[in-house]
Amino acid sequence: MARADGRQREPGRRELQTRLTESFGLRHPFVGAGMGFVALPELVAAVSEAGGLGVLGVAPEPPPVFLERIAQIRSLTSRPFGVDFFLAVSPTLGPITVDDHIKIAAAAKVALAVFHFGISDPTWVAALKAAGVAVWVQVPTLEQARAALAAGADGLVAQGVEAGGHNHSTLPLHSLLREIREEIGDRVLVLAAGGIATGADVVSALAHGADGVWVGTRLVASTEAYAHPEWKRRIVEARGHKATVITTLFGPEVPCLPYRVLRNPAIDAAIDRQDEVCALPPAGDPIGSTTLFPGTSFETQGVPMPTFSALPPTPDTTGDFDAMGMPTGEGAQQIRDVKPAARIIADMMGEARSIIDRRLASSPA
Ligand SMILES: Cc1cc2nc3c(=O)[nH]c(=O)nc-3n(C[C@H](O)[C@H](O)[C@H](O)COP(=O)(O)O)c2cc1C
Repeated sequence: MARADGRQREPGRRELQTRLTESFGLRHPFVGAGMGFVALPELVAAVSEAGGLGVLGVAPEPPPVFLERIAQIRSLTSRPFGVDFFLAVSPTLGPITVDDHIKIAAAAKVALAVFHFGISDPTWVAALKAAGVAVWVQVPTLEQARAALAAGADGLVAQGVEAGGHNHSTLPLHSLLREIREEIGDRVLVLAAGGIATGADVVSALAHGADGVWVGTRLVASTEAYAHPEWKRRIVEARGHKATVITTLFGPEVPCLPYRVLRNPAIDAAIDRQDEVCALPPAGDPIGSTTLFPGTSFETQGVPMPTFSALPPTPDTTGDFDAMGMPTGEGAQQIRDVKPAARIIADMMGEARSIIDRRLASSPA
């Protein structure tokens, strides 16, 4: 049967379809999390080509770099994709998202713009929507979900406490999803974020009211992710609930924000003093060196990483990996391998489909 995305269905196989797949013409209700540094054009295009929606992690790239990234994605895929804006003001870099980012996204007519940490400027929503760009907000609480809807959001990404990266949530994902759905009903799309790494996690998220999944950590352990192989290796080796922790230790670039990362010896040594440490200027020698804006004409090599730097290790990074922040969610404990994004998506969605078909639909007559 011919489909909105121009592809043929596999004979005998029904893919999961939701309001999300209908809205964006996707094969799967799967969105790649907009991860700064890691979800660069190669990963974004791979997710979109595989039938999900790839989302560029724009932070911390300034507008001219962002413009190049959009061109890079379009050279790799003609499928729809989104962009993710991180709203924070850095003492060293200034505001991470500015008017020109919004103008570029609107002019490029990307399919989707997502904001993390609220919407700071209502004119941004109006400008994006006027250009036909869907606007979502990633929210850690029901209160922020209400604020996002009041600001005009078309969709919400519910971020549970399990999620990797910057994370203000204190609620398990399923509780947050339930709270949001109970209040807003079916008014807008709601995606589930946090700890989703298997097909069973997908089924569970849909059962708790999600229209689709927003997946970060599982995609960090993909071939295309712009993450250092040592970080990918540590995700594959991570076991148990204590493998990751939310701490405010990391981020002289964006100080004292809660950040879920892989545990390491530097965290264990300082976590009891985290509120004090994060408010001080970084002490001691740099822990490593990295490259900003890789693969663009603004590439900057040899950038020193201060103690507890929020910059995650990319393939260009050198230094003490035991001291680096590796943003990672609780789903790491389910991840056993690094593989292409297309394989990850096909495996997760195939497993989800099988669970629904075999376990839920085949009760004895
Ligand atoms: C490596 C990494 C980087 C992230 N960077 C961003 C970001 O730049 N902007 C953002 O909105 N969220 C960011 N997040 C959070 C994700 O949007 C999402 O909440 C999270 O990945 C979901 O949980 P999971 O990692 O368990 O799948 C990041 C997450 C990870 C793991």
